[in-house]
Amino acid sequence: MSLHIEFITAQQEDARHPVAVIAYQDGILGDVARTLDAGVAGALSRNLTPRFTGKPNNHALLHSERLIILIGAGPETAPLPAHEQAAHACQVADRQGLSTLTLRLEDASPEGAARAAFGARLGSYRFHRYKSSPSEQERPLLQRVNIITTAPEQAKAAFERHEAVAAGVFLARDLTNEPANALYPEQFVSHMEAIAPPGLQVEALDVAQMQDLGMHALLCVGQGSARDSRLLILRWQGADDPQAAPLAFVGKGVTFDSGGLSIKPAASMELMKQDMGAAASIAGLMLTLATRRAAVNAVAVLGLVENMVDAHSTRPGDVVTSLSGQTIEVVNTDAEGRLVLADALAYCERRFKPRLMIDLATLTGAVMVALGTDYGGLFSEHDPLSAQLIEAGIAEGEPLWRLPMPESYQQHLHSQIADMKNVAGIRFGGASIAARFLRKFVGDTPWAHLDVSSPIWRDPANSALAPPGATGYGVRLLNRFISERYEAV
Ligand code: BES
Ligand code: MN
Ligand code: ZN
Repeated sequence: MSLHIEFITAQQEDARHPVAVIAYQDGILGDVARTLDAGVAGALSRNLTPRFTGKPNNHALLHSERLIILIGAGPETAPLPAHEQAAHACQVADRQGLSTLTLRLEDASPEGAARAAFGARLGSYRFHRYKSSPSEQERPLLQRVNIITTAPEQAKAAFERHEAVAAGVFLARDLTNEPANALYPEQFVSHMEAIAPPGLQVEALDVAQMQDLGMHALLCVGQGSARDSRLLILRWQGADDPQAAPLAFVGKGVTFDSGGLSIKPAASMELMKQDMGAAASIAGLMLTLATRRAAVNAVAVLGLVENMVDAHSTRPGDVVTSLSGQTIEVVNTDAEGRLVLADALAYCERRFKPRLMIDLATLTGAVMVALGTDYGGLFSEHDPLSAQLIEAGIAEGEPLWRLPMPESYQQHLHSQIADMKNVAGIRFGGASIAARFLRKFVGDTPWAHLDVSSPIWRDPANSALAPPGATGYGVRLLNRFISERYEAV
């Protein structure tokens, strides 16, 4: 049951319903809150406690004729964006057990209202598939949000585009939250076949086809699994010129990463079901592009494998030949993501000759050590592409931080017997060295690598836009990157 969102004018408002308005830092009421305050003879401002700071994540409740929820929006000069205000208001309302909430935010323009609706939608996500009966604490109580705007019809039209993005984010979260016994490579493929909207082409290579092509770097990761590997290809042709070179997105889709024979410790191993989160975000992005019929040609190449322990598993020290022809000594079977990407990147560049190539991967723990919980790591030798991605990330609240990938680090991947090994002998700069490894499998195509180990999963949650678990990070960032930079407007 999804949250019902409606746009209404101030005149249509039912004055009995609980309402959320905003205040800025230091308890300064917003214009709307001030008007409400006058309506209740100053009761709102009179009853504000010093505990209410007006900072983000802070709120106050006033019970007068109706319940008024005051949402902290931060500094008046740089307030929290409308979608975050709305998500926070809905979270507070839900925790109060309200079934209906009216949102009266400062920006009542159709676009402002649509943004608010977007936040309400994103925050309403739950993953309860496997709960026989969600408890009162877990069950969403808020069912209906009325958003005040000057032009409801226009707001509704503007919201459609946001709904397409939310659908992509929800798909990414769903796939990532699914346990690995339910979501394995073939299942990922059939799910995409089942839900693909008109015009989104779904194609998959099986193990035999990849063997024929010589994709032994990717295949060696999945060969210890009872579940066969797949290469999933999603295409959206929305540009005026169907021949125009596509934007390409390549994703790491390790449906479970046990580490293989270089097995991971038991603690937190269950989280390695999220090692396909990057592929899920790209699948979500493609759903968004097709749903909103984006004016662009885009292709996704997702390497889907399960990294398991078995008599058939790749052994540390094994040498494999990649699609590119370069040989790799697999020194550590837990550095599997780069093996998958090596072949997926080479395949993508050869077949599609893309205009640019962006890969997303939960590639290293090292990037989490470097950047903490909120940032994705960006690695690229292409300055303009890097700047565009960073800007899109800031605008969407999905921030990236650029890290170095100097050619001098390549020496750490020197192998005695093969063209390279898959891990370095030193402990330092693991995320940068992984990027250097990937570089060997990309030709002259402008390319960026996003190491999203941190932001793809969040527990506990750090915002009202997503509950704990999968975040769907990357869908919004890449959608904005495409719409602002590569779509004819
Ligand atoms: N999928 C992991 C990276 C990861 C760890 C992502 C924790 C999210 C949370 C990746 O396959 C991996 O195991 N990387 C190794 C590389 C090492 C063996 C060079 C790592 O980071 O420890
Ligand atoms: Mn691993
Ligand atoms: Zn992994």
